[in-house]
Amino acid sequence: MKNLKKFFKSSPKYSIKWSNYFDIYQNLFKRFLNKKIILVEVGIGNGGSLFMWRKFFGKRAQIIGIELNPDAKKLEKHGFKIFIGDQSDPNFWKNFYKRIGKIDILIDDGGHTNLQQITTLMQSIKYLNYGGMIVIEDTHTSFMKDKGFKNPSKYSLINFTTLLIETIHRRNPMLKKEINFFSKKVQSIEYYDSITVINISKSKLTKSKNLENNKKLRNLFDDFRYKKEKNISTHKDDNIFLNLIKQKVSKRSYLYRIYENSVIKRYIKLLKE
Ligand SMILES: C[S@@+](CC[C@H](N)C(=O)[O-])C[C@H]1O[C@@H](n2cnc3c(N)ncnc32)[C@H](O)[C@@H]1O
Repeated sequence: MKNLKKFFKSSPKYSIKWSNYFDIYQNLFKRFLNKKIILVEVGIGNGGSLFMWRKFFGKRAQIIGIELNPDAKKLEKHGFKIFIGDQSDPNFWKNFYKRIGKIDILIDDGGHTNLQQITTLMQSIKYLNYGGMIVIEDTHTSFMKDKGFKNPSKYSLINFTTLLIETIHRRNPMLKKEINFFSKKVQSIEYYDSITVINISKSKLTKSKNLENNKKLRNLFDDFRYKKEKNISTHKDDNIFLNLIKQKVSKRSYLYRIYENSVIKRYIKLLKE
C-alpha cells in the first residue's frame, strides 16, 4: 500500500499538513488509487502537496491547483494545471468548471474563512462526479475567534454543514419534507479533527423506501415505548419536581419534555467541560 506520509516527506517542495491528516487520507482515498481521476486542491502554497498527491494517486490522476498567489503559476512547468483566483469569488468557480468540467476530489486548504469554505463547497458540489468527495481542511477555524476567523458563529462552516445533515435526513419519508438537490447528491458527511468530508453519492438518491419488515406483518410486537411499566426499576431523579413528571406524566406530552431536556442538559454540560 502506498504511504502518503512518505510522499509528503519526499516532496521536492515545501508543504504543510497537520500530522493527523495522513492516517485519515490514507483510509479515505484508498478507492481512488491508480484511477483516472481529477483532483483539485485549493490553496497550494509552494506546491509541495501537489507532488505528494501525484505520487500517491498515480500517473492516471490529473492534479489541479488553485491559488490566490500568481507565483503559483510557475508550478505548471512540473506538469500541474494551475488556476489563479479567489475561492470566495463565485465567478472564478463558474469559469473554472467551464474549463475543467466535472471533478472527483476537491480538497480545500485555502484561506479557511467561513465565506471561502462555504463558497467553495456551494459553487463546486454541482461539479462533483458521483462517487466523489469534497474534503475541507482546517475546520478547527469554525471554532477560532482570533486570526480573523471570528468564530464560533452561526455562519461557520461546521454550522453550515449541519443544514446539510438535515437535507440528508429528508430522504426519510417520516420527515414529510421535499428532498432537494443536496438530499439527492450527498450520501454522508464525516467529521474528523479539523477535516470535514462531504461524500457524494454513487448515483442520484431518492426518498428511502418504507421501513422494511421481514415477516410482512404489522404490529408483531407490543411496543412499550410510551408505557409506564411498574415492574421495571428506573433511576429516581434527585429533583422532586422532575421526578414527579417522570413518574406521573405521559411520555408523549410536552410536559414530559421538561424532564427529558433537563437530563440532556446535564449531558451537554459534560461535553462542554
Ligand atoms: C496553508 S497554505 C496551503 C498549503 C498547501 N495546501 C500544502 O498542503 O502545503 C494556504 C494557501 O491558500 C492560499 N489562499 C488564501 N486565500 C485564498 C483564496 N481566497 N483563494 C485561493 N487561495 C487562497 C494562500 O495564498 C496559501 O498559499
